[in-house]
Amino acid sequence: MTKIRAAITGVGGYVPDYILTNDELSRMVDTSDEWIMTRIGIKERRILKGEGKGTSDMGAEAVKQLLAKTKTKPEEIDLIICGVVTPDMVFPATANIIADKTDIRNAFGFDLNAGCSSFLYALATASKYVESGSYKKVIVVGADKMSAIVDYTDRATCPIFGDGAAAVLVEPTTDENCIIDSILQSDGVGRIHLHQKAGGSAKPPTHETIDAREHYVYQEGQPVFKWAVSKMADVSVEMMEKHHITPESLTWLVPHQANMRIIDATANRMGINKEQVMINIQRFGNTTSATLPLCLWEWENKLRKGDNIILAAFGAGFTWGSLYLKWAYDGDKI
Ligand code: UT7
Repeated sequence: MTKIRAAITGVGGYVPDYILTNDELSRMVDTSDEWIMTRIGIKERRILKGEGKGTSDMGAEAVKQLLAKTKTKPEEIDLIICGVVTPDMVFPATANIIADKTDIRNAFGFDLNAGCSSFLYALATASKYVESGSYKKVIVVGADKMSAIVDYTDRATCPIFGDGAAAVLVEPTTDENCIIDSILQSDGVGRIHLHQKAGGSAKPPTHETIDAREHYVYQEGQPVFKWAVSKMADVSVEMMEKHHITPESLTWLVPHQANMRIIDATANRMGINKEQVMINIQRFGNTTSATLPLCLWEWENKLRKGDNIILAAFGAGFTWGSLYLKWAYDGDKI
């Protein structure tokens, strides 16, 4: 019997209109465009404004676009997985809220939180559901409203993050142009360097936790940087070696957009040129779960059937991983 594989068959995306520039940030905290560009490589990021607006509002926009582009009816969707670190609420899952806002009524859904690796983990998970033969149309969303948990008085973290969402459709194929392999890893020892101190069950929210600003991202930049550089490169090189992918035969690296220096180090270790790397960190910053699908969304019309693509991520947990796929369609025909 022919093996059922899983392929990405469409991409939708959404970024909010409001642009927070380095110049505006420099008026909020003691920083400068020069420092942010040199140390991180971000020029501007998008911020979701509006009372009551949450991650699901961006996710729903991305899903609506995905359904329209792929001419898929909401009732055809079997499963929706949302990779997210900033859910609308602690419960229910943001995937369920997105499904409701997009009229997806015949699907089951859940959130997956693996820090900045959430989309990668969710895509690998979706591929297994499709390969099982039980599910035919699976949506994977990567969405985060990081501005909800960023402390805009902390210059060490506030330049890094932005808001955004993107989604892919995953469907069965018997073609070789499909999701081929994933390597996912984690090490909880890293949690001390990157977390949110309060608001969870270990430290429920109180007036004191609010006053201590413990509901914001806490990050020790240097250890996170060191881990990210080595793990993201290791796991990407491991994927190349495992599948005999040479620098010349790799069409695209889609790296998590956390820091331009981490992206450069990963590309160098893989022996590839900058022209082979999708980079939009300058305009969107680190959108956490949304970085990888936002790249696919922006580059879609350049992608060709059979392109060799490696996705790579690193995030809170620590979590990291890489996923190898052969692109399934000519992006300019969409
Ligand atoms: O996506 C999840 C995974 N996260 C990551 O991958 C992030 C990894 N870490 C990083 O990208 C970097 O560590 C940061 C961008 C967070 C920080 O860059 P860094 O080169 O590691 O800077 P640093 O924390 O070592 O700080 C260097 C100096 C310090 O001043 P002193 O002590 O040398 O006088 C900081 O106080 O830069 C200062 N500094 C700033 N100066 C101007 C820190 N933030 C700023 C700022 N503007 N925004």
